Amino acid sequence: MRFKSFSAFFALTLALAILLPAHAQGSTRPLIIAHRGASGYLPEHTLEAKAMAYALGADYVEQDVVLTQDDVPIVVHDIILDTVTNIAEIFPGRARGDGHFYAIDFTLAEIKQLTVHERIDLQTGKTAFPNRFPLETVVGFEIPTLEEEIALIQGLNRSTGHDVGLYPELKEPAFHQAEGKDIGTIVLALLEEYGYTRRADRVFVQCFDPAYTRYLREELGTDLKLVQLISGSQANLASPQGLDAIAEYADGIGPSMSLVLSFDAQGQAQITSLVAEAHARGLVVHPYTGRADSLPKNAQSFDQLLEATFIVAGADGIFTDHTDRAIAFVNALQ
Ligand code: G3P
Ligand code: CA
Repeated sequence: MRFKSFSAFFALTLALAILLPAHAQGSTRPLIIAHRGASGYLPEHTLEAKAMAYALGADYVEQDVVLTQDDVPIVVHDIILDTVTNIAEIFPGRARGDGHFYAIDFTLAEIKQLTVHERIDLQTGKTAFPNRFPLETVVGFEIPTLEEEIALIQGLNRSTGHDVGLYPELKEPAFHQAEGKDIGTIVLALLEEYGYTRRADRVFVQCFDPAYTRYLREELGTDLKLVQLISGSQANLASPQGLDAIAEYADGIGPSMSLVLSFDAQGQAQITSLVAEAHARGLVVHPYTGRADSLPKNAQSFDQLLEATFIVAGADGIFTDHTDRAIAFVNALQ
C-alpha cells in the first residue's frame, strides 16, 4: 500500500491498530531496540550513543560483545577493530597475517588507548553511511566495556525511574572458543553480578550460532530470555523445522528483515509467514535492522517500513539505528 500523505497513513495505522492483534497495540506495544545505540546519530556502540538512545526512549539498548586478550567483555560489533577505531595508527605491526587487528590480541588497557570513529567500509576506506556523524570528527569516543555500559544503563534507570533493558549479542562464539575463551560463561557471570538471572529480567541474550544459543540454555543453564538471530543466509533456521528446534531453547528470533518482508516494484509490502510461524511456537520476533537512511529496496519511507513490520507482519519489536523515529511511530499507535 502506498500513502499519499502522512495524515492518510496515520489514520490508517490507527484503524489497523484497533483491528489487528494485541501484540501490536497497547501494553504489548512493539519493543524499540536501539541497534548499537543511537547509531544513526553518533558512532556505534560508544557510551555517548547509548546515552542518546536511552534519552530518545529506547525500550532496550543493544550491545555486541567480544572479548579482549585479558578476558574482558567489550562492546564493539566486529572481532576486528579496523572498522571503527584508529588501531592501525596506534599499534602498527600488531595486525595478523590477514592484515586485520583482532580485539582478542589486545588487552583492555591497550584497547582503551584507541579512539572510536564512525564505521568505515574497509573496501573503500570511506564512511559506511555518508550522512551520519562526520568520520573526521574525533572527540574522544572510546570502546566501552560491557560492565561500563551496564553501569550506565542501570544508573540512568535509577536517575530517571525508567526500566530500560539490555540486549547483548555474543559475537562469534566459535572464534572465541578456538582462542580458548568461552564468551557465554564470561558474559552470563557479569550479567548475574549486576542482577540479571531470570526470564523476567530486562535482558535478551542473542546469538547467530544456533548450537551456541542452545548451549547457553542447556549447558550453561541460563534462565535469561534467549533470542536466536537468523541471517538472510540461514533460511533453514526460519523453516518450520528450524523454528521447532529454536522453540526448544529460545524465547524469540531476531531475523534479518529480508526474511520477514520485502516491497514489490509498486512499493507494496509483501510479508512472509515467518512471524506467524514463530508466534505459533510461542516465539517473539524482533527483526533487524530498521534504518531511516538505508531502506529496503522499493520501500517508500521509514514509516512505511515500520508499518509493514509491526502492523502488516505483526513483529513484536525492531532493532533500529533511529530510535526516535521508531518511538514516534509506536507512540502514534497508542
Ligand atoms: O543483533 C541484531 C542485529 O544487530 C544483527 O546484526 O550484524 O548488526 O549485529 P548485526
Ligand atoms: Ca547485533
